[in-house]
This record gives sequence, C-alpha cells and structure tokens, in this order.
Amino acid sequence: MLTSILISVGFLLACGLILAALLVLAEKKILNYGTCHIHINNGKKTLDVEGGSSLLNSLAEQNIFIPSACGGRGTCAYCKLKVNEGGGSISPVEEPYLSPEERQEHVRLSCQVKVRRDLSIEIPDDLFSVRRFHAKVARKRALTHDIVELRLALVEPTTIEFEAGQYIQLESAEYKGHEAVMRGYSISSVPSDKTHLELIIRLVPDGICSTWVVQHLKEGANITLSGPYGHFHLSDTTAPIICIAGGSGMAPIWSILRDMKEKGLNRPATYFFGALTQRDLFFLDEFKQLAKECPWFTFVPALSKEPADSSWQGERGLITEVVDRHFPDTSQHEAYLCGSPGMIDAAIAVLKKNGMPEANIFYDKF
Ligand SMILES: Cc1cc2nc3c(=O)[nH]c(=O)nc-3n(C[C@H](O)[C@H](O)[C@H](O)COP(=O)(O)OP(=O)(O)OC[C@H]3O[C@@H](n4cnc5c(N)ncnc54)[C@H](O)[C@@H]3O)c2cc1C
Ligand code: FES
Repeated sequence: MLTSILISVGFLLACGLILAALLVLAEKKILNYGTCHIHINNGKKTLDVEGGSSLLNSLAEQNIFIPSACGGRGTCAYCKLKVNEGGGSISPVEEPYLSPEERQEHVRLSCQVKVRRDLSIEIPDDLFSVRRFHAKVARKRALTHDIVELRLALVEPTTIEFEAGQYIQLESAEYKGHEAVMRGYSISSVPSDKTHLELIIRLVPDGICSTWVVQHLKEGANITLSGPYGHFHLSDTTAPIICIAGGSGMAPIWSILRDMKEKGLNRPATYFFGALTQRDLFFLDEFKQLAKECPWFTFVPALSKEPADSSWQGERGLITEVVDRHFPDTSQHEAYLCGSPGMIDAAIAVLKKNGMPEANIFYDKF
C-alpha cells in the first residue's frame, strides 16, 4: 500500500518537473517574441532587442547597466525602473518590494519584467554613464581573518569616473558548482585614482561571491565589473558629519574621508568604527595618520566583545551606544552609515532620538 502511494507521488512529481521543463523550453524555443522595441525616457532613445529575456538582461546586452546587487534573483530590489507600458502584471516575486505609491508610478523590478512586446520605460540619466570594465587583480591582501582588500587595475576601459561613496558590481566566475553571480561592492579608493579601484570584501559564510573573492581569486586574475552605481556620497552642505560603519562597511567611508582631504573640505567629521574584538580591526594606523594630518577629523574605534581584561584602551560597547555617548545632540549634523541592516536601523534610531532630522541621514545597507 505504502509502496504504491510512494510510486504515485513520485510519478506526479516527475510529471510536474517534466511539465515545468517543457514550459521553460517552450518559452525559450517555441515562443518567438521577435524583435521588441524598448522606448526609453519618452522616446529619447529606442532599442531593438530580441524578446524573451528579462528587461534587466536586455538592457545589459545593449550596454545599459541597471543596479542588480542580487544578480537578478528578485531579492535586492536594486533594479527598480518605471515601466509605463508593456510590462504586464506585477509578479508575486515583485509584490513585497513595491509600495502602493511605486505601483501607481508603474515602478517594477526590471529583473522580473520579461520583454514580450514593445515597452516604454524610464531610466535615470546617471545610469547611462555606467560602464562594463575588464580589470586585473593587481593586489590582494588580508586585512583581518575574514576581510580582504582587492586592488584592481582597469584594463578596458582604462579609467573610471566616480564619486566617493559609490559602488561597483563584481562578476564572479563559476566555481565548485556555483553559478557566476554579480554582487555590489563599495569602492574604497579615491576618485582621483582613475586607473585603479580598491574594494574591501568580507567573507560571508556560504556566500557565493565573497567566498570566490576571499578563497579562490588570485593576484593577476582577470575580472569583470560594472559601475559606478549609487547615490551614497557626501552632500554639498557644510554640516558636520558623523560616519558609522563596521567591518567592510568602512569601504565607502575610507573613500569619502580621503576625498574630503584631497579636496580641502574642512567639515568636522567623526568616524565611529565598530568591531567585535581587536582581531576585527584594520586600518587603525591609516585612520590615526589621517586624524593627525586633518584637524577636522576624529577617529573613534569601538569594540563590543573585547574581553574586559585585554590591553584595549579605546571605547567599548555597541557602536550605537558609543555614538549616543559622544553625540547627545545630533540636530545640526549629517550622518553617513554603512553596514548590516540591523546596525543601520539601530544607528538611525539613536541619531533621530538625539535630534537628527531623517533627511540628514544617508546610508547603504549591505
Ligand atoms: C550597495 C552595496 C554595497 C556593498 N558593499 C560591500 C562592500 O564594500 N564589502 C562587502 O564585503 N560587501 C558589500 N556588499 C554586500 C555584497 O554585495 C554581498 O551581498 C556579500 O558579499 C554577500 O554576497 P555573496 O555572494 O558572498 O553571498 P550570497 O551567495 O548572496 O549569500 C548571502 C547569504 O545568504 C545565504 N544564502 C544564499 N543562498 C541561500 C539560500 N538559497 N537559502 C538560504 N540562504 C542562502 C548565504 O549562506 C549567505 O549567508 C554591498 C552590498 C550592496 C547592496
Ligand atoms: S536584480 Fe535584485 S531584485 Fe532585481
């Protein structure tokens, strides 16, 4: 009896799988959408593309790169675009990422919109300057037990223009059965260094791209990336700034602070660098040197899990507690935060509690 139930269930499962495979095949091979026209920004530009791919990929094939930190899996919501006509209905994957206002404005996840007919879409102007780059790993060095720094020499094109705080998307290679993926990494080098890019990358346990970078990528290897992306950069006000970032979240802050120095911006700036223990700290000497050279800059490293009897002389506690102690009044400041969603949400709560208007808080959640 049990055997025949198992055989029936197995048979039904197999039928389901075969049907799904046939549908995918039919979509790819049998359904021919032909050439579709993508009208961009009220017809300012029109692309002719083969129908059948996602809007994200169709645009990338035409060298228009939309941010896609999850590589098209529908989990990052970075690939939002306005699709005014031809996008079909919102898919269940998109539902959780689109607010009622965005739905009204025809915002969609471009990785989930299939090009099946002519489309009318809107693309922000800054994305037209995003390029795909071939680069070589000029240097790879360990900064801590789980963080590496990459220095990439740009090969083609040979130079890049970006603003301090922006990020690029790295394309990993296939390895050990993992597919190639794209992930966002903030640029830690300064914009004046146009021929190289530096990245600070933390190993995420079981993470596809970070494991590839930290454990498999070698100096001298060829690598592909696109960028620059993002709107996380210094505002053009004169407000004093508070930066909060731990681990690899330091990357854009390191770029922004050195860019300020190069440009002679003397805005008071304090950087709170949160880490668990001393073995998670890096660039201490570099930041101390920056503080020595720039009277407007204060560096505050803080450890949350350092043993009480250790040699550590600096701040202790959660980085948000340390910020709270240093800045009981944040009403005149701006804040630049980078790191995990949990850390950023906690930091925003403290900054707002101490008087900072929400409009003065800028962040990139990793
Ligand atoms: C704008 C931006 C800037 C960033 N800058 C930096 C930076 O400067 N430095 C940096 O280190 N990172 C940065 N990140 C984070 C980075 O993009 C990656 O998210 C990070 O490296 C993890 O990618 P991964 O491919 O290694 O992990 P993924 O493969 O994406 O996995 C992430 C986690 O999800 C889990 N997971 C994966 N698949 C599954 C599954 N099927 N079921 C259950 N769990 C699963 C993994 O175990 C892992 O814990 C940035 C992100 C953004 C959006
Ligand atoms: S690329 Fe991440 S949700 Fe579309």
